[in-house]
Amino acid sequence: MAPSLPTPKVAFVMVGLPARGKTFIARKIARFLSWLGHKTQVFNVGSYRRARLGSHHRHSFFDPRNQAGQAARRDVALAALGDMLAFLRAGGDIAIYDATNNTRERRALVRARCAAEGVEVVFVESICNDPVMVEANIRANKARSPDYEGVPEEEAVSDFRLRIGHYETDYQETTEDEGPFVKIIDVGRKVVLHAIEGYLLARVVHYLLNLHVRPRSVWLTRHGESAFNVLGRIGGDAPLSDAGRAYARMLARSVRERIGSNVVVWTSTLRRTLETAEILGLPYRTWRALDEIDAGVCDGMTYAEIEEAMPQEFEARGADKFLYRYPRGESYQDVIARLEPVIFELERERAPVLVIGHQAVLRALYAYMMDKPPNECPYVSIPLHMILELEPTAYGCEERRIELPPPPSYPEEYRHSERILSAFRTH
Ligand code: F6P
Repeated sequence: MAPSLPTPKVAFVMVGLPARGKTFIARKIARFLSWLGHKTQVFNVGSYRRARLGSHHRHSFFDPRNQAGQAARRDVALAALGDMLAFLRAGGDIAIYDATNNTRERRALVRARCAAEGVEVVFVESICNDPVMVEANIRANKARSPDYEGVPEEEAVSDFRLRIGHYETDYQETTEDEGPFVKIIDVGRKVVLHAIEGYLLARVVHYLLNLHVRPRSVWLTRHGESAFNVLGRIGGDAPLSDAGRAYARMLARSVRERIGSNVVVWTSTLRRTLETAEILGLPYRTWRALDEIDAGVCDGMTYAEIEEAMPQEFEARGADKFLYRYPRGESYQDVIARLEPVIFELERERAPVLVIGHQAVLRALYAYMMDKPPNECPYVSIPLHMILELEPTAYGCEERRIELPPPPSYPEEYRHSERILSAFRTH
């Protein structure tokens, strides 16, 4: 989907020694910007090297004195750069060039190629001098990378340390005369900015300020079934049904057993999520941004009533459910835009988070967590009375679905409406 305003073409160019979390940061930026609707892609030079030259290279290949190795590495770096510029030329908005780019000379080359095509470059440098963090990253990610398939862990770790040593010999930190940069030191302990201007870059920096790598889970659940769910009516501000209250009690038990009381609970401002949280019995924070999609003039209707009274609206929504905006209401794209501060907080939070939300809003949060493209977001299945337990990992997110009793009591008419809607689904 096209963003509403034309955005300048931007390349975020990663800088830093191996095992400094560059790929983690690159993928996070890409996920955040794609979710906001920008056409974004990561170009990882390590993957180009493995695809073109194989993944058997040991540390000596990365030694700057190894001229054949240097030339081969330069070739793959330029191939990735060429593809990145082609992507931007062909309509991409933002690219992330994920490589060490550890010399001024290499960065000058990247900058010159980008400048020739009107692409703005921002260096994102990750500096980490904490040996414990670097060692943990080598063990968790590098020793298990395809570069060391079948190699015993200790052998892989010591080879990787030698590889880092080669990069250290010619590493030059980015300096101000090289243009805009963000330096992230010791996984966000300190952040240094230079010449960062404009709305988009400010948001990316704000986002980066909130990132951390501590493991914790995020639970998404809809409120317990509401009186409107029973009637198949959308929107509104109805209280919970008996089954909804019973679910809230089951949820309370599950939270107690699986995470304890050290959990941050968020709700919307709507009655059905507040009542669910009250039964949970833990402190909670209410967010207006978590309120359900505003169905505008259709609020309080059933899908069948909308189809009957406003067939054109019904059809338009079926044709493009992501961009469709209810008259005097919202679209999924609008919901995503208002959820941005929630994402910043979600990233910043160190404790497990339980979001008691609504179908459309949780679909949007899920799409962010699971890196789903905008067109899939409105179709993510988030049934009532189910917990989605999401566990962020180094480069993605694992998911577990836990169904809790009692089953919600959807009316037949509601199911029928869902069948009508599904006729318009593209997948
Ligand atoms: O039916 C429950 C509900 O949360 C409504 O309030 C909301 O309009 C709807 O789900 C969102 O789902 P969809 O986008 O599939 O209509």
